[in-house]
Amino acid sequence: MTDDLIEQAKAILRRNDRGGYTVPTHGLYPFQWNWDSCLSALGFSHFDEERAWTEIDTLFANQWPDGMVPHIVFHEEDDGYFPGPDVWRTGRPVPTSGITQPPVAGFAVRRLVDRARDPELAADRARALLPKIHAWHEWFYRCRDPQGTGLVAIIHPWESGRDNSVDWDDVFERVPTDGVEPFSRRDIQHANPSHRPTQAQYERYIWLVQRFRSLGWDNTKLHDASPFQVVDPGFNAILIRSCSDLADLAERFELGEIAAQARAFAERGVAAMEALWSDAMGQYLCQDRTTGKLIQSPSIAGLLAGFAELPSPRAAAIAKRLTLLGEQVDYLVPSHDPSQPAFDSLRYWRGPVWLIVNYMIADGLTRSGQASVAQRIIADSLRLIEQSGFAEYYDPHTAEPCGGDQFTWTAAIVIELLSQELTPA
Ligand code: GLC
Repeated sequence: MTDDLIEQAKAILRRNDRGGYTVPTHGLYPFQWNWDSCLSALGFSHFDEERAWTEIDTLFANQWPDGMVPHIVFHEEDDGYFPGPDVWRTGRPVPTSGITQPPVAGFAVRRLVDRARDPELAADRARALLPKIHAWHEWFYRCRDPQGTGLVAIIHPWESGRDNSVDWDDVFERVPTDGVEPFSRRDIQHANPSHRPTQAQYERYIWLVQRFRSLGWDNTKLHDASPFQVVDPGFNAILIRSCSDLADLAERFELGEIAAQARAFAERGVAAMEALWSDAMGQYLCQDRTTGKLIQSPSIAGLLAGFAELPSPRAAAIAKRLTLLGEQVDYLVPSHDPSQPAFDSLRYWRGPVWLIVNYMIADGLTRSGQASVAQRIIADSLRLIEQSGFAEYYDPHTAEPCGGDQFTWTAAIVIELLSQELTPA
């Protein structure tokens, strides 16, 4: 069974390989996505290390001069996706979007180095990538934390990777829709509209893109100019984990300056995360940076926080929350709390389970000594695959597969889970 699943997963990675990069799935997402690629590289690394490194190299070849790594690289023309390069108009040699995504590259590269069967190849490729990843992290703290709080804000929901989370609903009230150019969505031609974001949300996504475009994609201006500035605990945890993994690698490669700076980012980040903790909810919450208030929305972002090295009482509290959620659903981890009125078991990031997030939560909790809940998450993830195949996301009650199928990062995580131990405590 295990071998069979791994073979199926490999075939998906091969099928979605466009030569140097993978698409998340055929049809729905025909380009290279940032965090998809970094997580997919983990899957490749179990059977083709060279190809795994190339996936990340190709992404970083499209890094912006200011350090940002864009969320989409439009390697080839394809009118099956909206918004394409003609909407973003970022003026890059290979067209890209103008916003970023969760910075998981530092973590992925460290993992590739740690498990390398070809250590020389790994050292060469990692050495070349390290300063680029560090430049991206510096960009975050410079451009997305101008007040030096230790936590970065996202300025568009797509940056979080959790496009239509309940977390954004209230802040989105502040995002206008006037002046949005007429558009025709492509996603609902590929996937069930009732499983996707709404039209009202799409208009606001596009309003923000047009606003940033009108400022020439100048990252010294975008943060302050955005009516949407949200500090997401999951996003920050990924950044903190990547900084700390990068610091470890930089020490190994004797890159003292990068090591010291990356370590300082991580330590400051862990301390700053306390501002996002809610005793009442028993988890971390997003913060609306414009008002300074915590957003009272118990989403998976506050559990994904466990991917960073948190103080052990916090990790224990996250494990407890997960155990309680596990009593409400058949498959952990729902992307939103099922007891909340806004929960929707089928709609994208408002309830369904996503395998990549499961993987990161389980990895973090294993490291912080919360192995039993981590094991439940992994077992549930594998049951989902056996029952419903390699979908984009799943209903946490019924395991119904949703969104795109034959999904690259889902397949990669299956290979990862079946092939290796998670980071030991
Ligand atoms: C959706 C997801 C995002 C992902 C992208 C490609 O936009 O919300 O996290 O990176 O699809 O798979």
